[in-house]
This record gives sequence, structure tokens and C-alpha cells, in this order.
Amino acid sequence: PSVHSEQGRVIATLPTGDSVEVLLYGATVISWKHNGRENLWVSKAAKLDGSKPVRGGVPVVFPCFGPPPADHATSALPQHGFARNSTWEYLGKSSSESGKLASGGDDGVKLDFGLSPAELSDEAKKAWPYDFGLVYSVTLGKDGLQTMLNVQNKGKESFEFQMLLHTYFKVDDISKVTVNGLGSSTYIDKVLNATTHTQSTPSLSITGETDRVYKSIKQDTTSILQDGKPRLDVIRDNLVDSVVWNPWIEKGKGMGDFEPKDGYKNMVCVEVGAVDGWQKLEAGDTFEGGQIVKSHL
Ligand code: BG6
Repeated sequence: PSVHSEQGRVIATLPTGDSVEVLLYGATVISWKHNGRENLWVSKAAKLDGSKPVRGGVPVVFPCFGPPPADHATSALPQHGFARNSTWEYLGKSSSESGKLASGGDDGVKLDFGLSPAELSDEAKKAWPYDFGLVYSVTLGKDGLQTMLNVQNKGKESFEFQMLLHTYFKVDDISKVTVNGLGSSTYIDKVLNATTHTQSTPSLSITGETDRVYKSIKQDTTSILQDGKPRLDVIRDNLVDSVVWNPWIEKGKGMGDFEPKDGYKNMVCVEVGAVDGWQKLEAGDTFEGGQIVKSHL
């Protein structure tokens, strides 16, 4: 595999031509190509210059999901925390043998990125004054992409966090997409005043604004099907929650960095995370969670 970095990004390419591109800003994966096909959606108006979180790719949400609650230690942080709008350090590459991607093996490559209080803005440090270390590992293997977030509490007191990998998947036509593997899970519907529901059908069609937080999902895999055929499998690793999001027409219009305006037809976010309540991490402890994504095309 070849790895090179340029202009604040790291690009890895396998002999097969498959590639992954990661911005140091947010450690945001902004491209993952498999068999010549792009699997991630990035808005044409996304800011890639570090002026705001990237609208697309795989933004890393940490240490809070959504607007933080007023009565929590994260309350002074922006929506989705600081990881997606901080500039991470590139820690280097290694062969992916140590990764969990089944067929990564010798043929894959793992890129590591780090974030600690040293990289944070003074504002973020003040708003969340804990001593932590994040290592985000992006492994490109023959048949998939793995992204894992390792959270370490380096301080002397415990802290609480949420995390989410806010992946924007690219699809050909949302009207032909179904999301499977959420059946019988309980979800909070943020479009319907945060009311609680149970997913009664095995497959979910996206036919309007969708913003659902599925909790404690029993199945490991959420699949995106196109025309009834498997397109992408999202496999949770040590995470049990997932958000399914599509802004649809009106919300898309309201987002200055969402382009083209009919881009909602070509994307769906399936976001793996730990967002139901809080993960408590004692001093010295670590937590690791993430996803393996496999492309069927
Ligand atoms: C999703 C949330 O994860 O992210 C949505 O569930 C939110 O409520 C969306 O609108 C996008 O958030 P942002 O901050 O990137 O506009």
C-alpha cells in the first residue's frame, strides 16, 4: 500500500486501486473508494479548510452527541463536541494485521490519528477540562473500511462521554434504498418530538426527513440495500446504538453547506455510536468502539 500526506490530509492506496482519504481536520474520512466506486457522500459545499465541520464523509462525534444537556459536564461544548472540528495529529501508518478487519491482513493499511488536550482550542479545553487521549484508527482492507475510536482517560478523575461515527453513505437513489437490521429495536424519533417507538418492520425506507436514534440494537450489522440488493454492511464493534439520518428537502435547504440541494437523494447517514446515556470512564481506563464497513459492489 502507498501512503502520502499533502495539504492537511493523508491518502492511502492499495495495489487494487482502493483508497481512503482522511483530513487531519476532524480526522474526517472524506473518501473511501472500493472497486472504483466512491462509498461516502460529501457535500459539494462542504468546507474542507477547517472553518467548520465537514458536511459529509465520516465526522467523529465526541464527547457529546447533539446539543449537550445543560446539566452535564459537556454543556458548554458545541453540538456533537470538539473532535470533528479540531485538527488531529497523524501518528503514522502500519500494516493492518493488528486491525480487526477480517481480510485486511498484509494487504491492508492502518492510519492512526491522535487528539489530546494539546490540540484543542482554548475554548474547548476550558469547556471540557479533562485529560484524555483519543486514537482514531482508519484501516483500509481489501473488502472494507474499519474505523475505530480509542478513548483513554489520562486524568485523575472519571469523565463521561458519548461517541458516534457520523458516516454519510453515498447511494444512487434514496427511493430505492432500505436500511435493514434494526428490527425490533427501540428508537427515539427526533422528527416526532423525540418520542420513543419500536422498529416494527425489518426494513426501513427513507421517504422524508429521518432522524432516529436506535438504542441497544441486538443485531451487529445494519445493512444498506439498493434495489433490494445488499450495497453496504455497517458492523458495530463494541457499540450498540445507531442513528439513521437524512435531512430531506427542507432541512437540506436550511443548511448552507448542503449541496446540491437535492443531495438528500444520494445520501443516508448510518451512524454507529454510544449515545444512549453516557459512557463513564474511570481514571486510567480506556474504551474502544467503532465500525467495519463492507461494500458489496
Ligand atoms: C445527526 C443528528 O446525527 O446529525 C441530527 O441526529 C443532526 O439531529 C445531524 O441534525 C447533523 O448535525 P450537524 O451538527 O452536522 O448539522
